[in-house]
Amino acid sequence: MIPWTLLGSASIPNNGGELELTQRDKEFSIHLKGVRGELMNSRVHCSELALAELGCAHIQEVENTKVLVGGLGMGFTLAAALKATSKSSQVVVAELVPEVIEWNKGPLGDCAGSPLKDQRTLVHLGDVAELFNSKQATYHVVLLDVDNGPEGFTHADNNNLYSIESLHAIRQTLHPNGMLAIWSAWNDPKFAKQLKKARFKVQTQTVRAHKGKGSRHTIYLAKKS
Ligand SMILES: C[S@@+](CC[C@H](N)C(=O)[O-])C[C@H]1O[C@@H](n2cnc3c(N)ncnc32)[C@H](O)[C@@H]1O
Repeated sequence: MIPWTLLGSASIPNNGGELELTQRDKEFSIHLKGVRGELMNSRVHCSELALAELGCAHIQEVENTKVLVGGLGMGFTLAAALKATSKSSQVVVAELVPEVIEWNKGPLGDCAGSPLKDQRTLVHLGDVAELFNSKQATYHVVLLDVDNGPEGFTHADNNNLYSIESLHAIRQTLHPNGMLAIWSAWNDPKFAKQLKKARFKVQTQTVRAHKGKGSRHTIYLAKKS
């Protein structure tokens, strides 16, 4: 059995916790230091791709769209968003932890085909929530995968992201018929209700973690009606 090698660690801003990047052969893992588990593994990324494919399906042929991805992780959702949108579209990726961006420019680059190098990618270093303060219709699609579900996991502050106030703010940053898509490791019917309360039209889709097998993940598709 090939042992894991530590490639880097990073403090999570304003949190005190630490992220670690490890490698074992061609497999990479980003996880919270300690016992609480993994945020992302390079071998299992089908549902991260599906988040972008399902979220962007309605704008695939549309010119000049703008998509927001929060956060970067290993870049799979970002790469899929670039693939699922027209050549004139832009994809903004918000990432809280500066080292995650550096890791993607370095050892993680090949995992998803270096989507940071795409000219249509714009990086926002900071909390994705900052981008919802404008309340101006800016995005056609917002794709959120910052935790393992609609609960603060990386950072307790992320709990606020799923509150009714935040969902209203996100709704305001979407264009008419815009889509908010959220990745979750579990299905939480209470969260679907919360999205409906924020006046989204909601569908949930179950997707498999790894090429039609593995864990079942949930994608909330919340359309601004
Ligand atoms: C589960 S990973 C994302 C995986 C990604 N979908 C992929 O395809 O690899 C979560 C990422 O979100 C970042 N993150 C966590 N909270 C954030 C926030 N509030 N704003 C921006 N990024 C955040 C983490 O540092 C981590 O890089």
